[in-house]
Amino acid sequence: GNKDNQFRIGFSQCVGSDQWRKSMLLGMQRELSFSPNTTLLYKDADNSSEVQIAQINELLKEGIDLLIVSPNEAAPLTPIIEQVYTRGIPVIVIDRKTSSPLYTAYIGSDNYEIGKRVGQYTANMLHGKGNVIEVTGLAGSSPAIEREKGFYEALKGYPEIKIIAHLHGNWLKDKAYRELNNLPKEVRASADVVFAHNDMMALGSYECFKAAGQLSRAHFIGVDALPATGLQFVSDRILSASALYGTGGQEAIQTAMAILRHEDFKKENILKTVLIDSTNVDLMKLQNEKVNSQQADIVRQQKMIDTQRRIYQNQSVTLLIILAS
Ligand code: FRU
Repeated sequence: GNKDNQFRIGFSQCVGSDQWRKSMLLGMQRELSFSPNTTLLYKDADNSSEVQIAQINELLKEGIDLLIVSPNEAAPLTPIIEQVYTRGIPVIVIDRKTSSPLYTAYIGSDNYEIGKRVGQYTANMLHGKGNVIEVTGLAGSSPAIEREKGFYEALKGYPEIKIIAHLHGNWLKDKAYRELNNLPKEVRASADVVFAHNDMMALGSYECFKAAGQLSRAHFIGVDALPATGLQFVSDRILSASALYGTGGQEAIQTAMAILRHEDFKKENILKTVLIDSTNVDLMKLQNEKVNSQQADIVRQQKMIDTQRRIYQNQSVTLLIILAS
């Protein structure tokens, strides 16, 4: 509301250029429009843990009341985030984790659960027998570690499912493409499922198989399920499935405002996830369109309120002039 202090929220983002992170920032900005006195100081570390540490130090110098951070890699970012926290500045960790319990709140989906659900889906699809290629996210980032753990846990009960290649895609489409392209073509030819830790790497994998003329056997699975990418890929049958991975942007700002206003908040905020495939993709798309049109209505209403306010202000000014003359 309007009686808020002039809060300054620092947001240290590990990388800002992909659709998923753009959507996270948009969610934050949308929620922040309800707290017009609050400023967001935004830094994009462009996939570098070193740059991210330097940028958190810059935010401290510029002066912040709260830090929101998505740590590029857990281990290298842990000391600086612990420092911010022990200085008494509240810290909200979002999506990727540190390796320390010293933070004020966490927002994100359960990545172990996501990996496990994809593993179960894979096992069902293969009727317990087949060859799998895994394309992981950045090795030191928590979602990559947890998605892999959950995936292996689910496949443990299926000795006839073999992981025939384990590749590091670092969350990047091009890197995934190159890694798959470097495999002997016989390995790709015997793959039944490619599980990539995000949809963009899944798309890169698909494009590599396509370029090699090897699309007949393998099924591709990703994570994120953004409307414009993952959902669309599932609906175009490029991907067999994708796990919805909410960005938590809106929830992060809601939690930030509760902390700053000394209201109640939860330390662990686990976002819901769901596996999307051809059986529920249309429903998801419909729901998404509905949310978008409601969002557009809110913007229209806001414009109407602004116009009314201007008319009212002009009328008051006119009235003052009349009274003064
Ligand atoms: C975006 C992204 C997502 C992935 C998440 C994991 O930068 O790579 O695709 O789900 O980060 O932190």
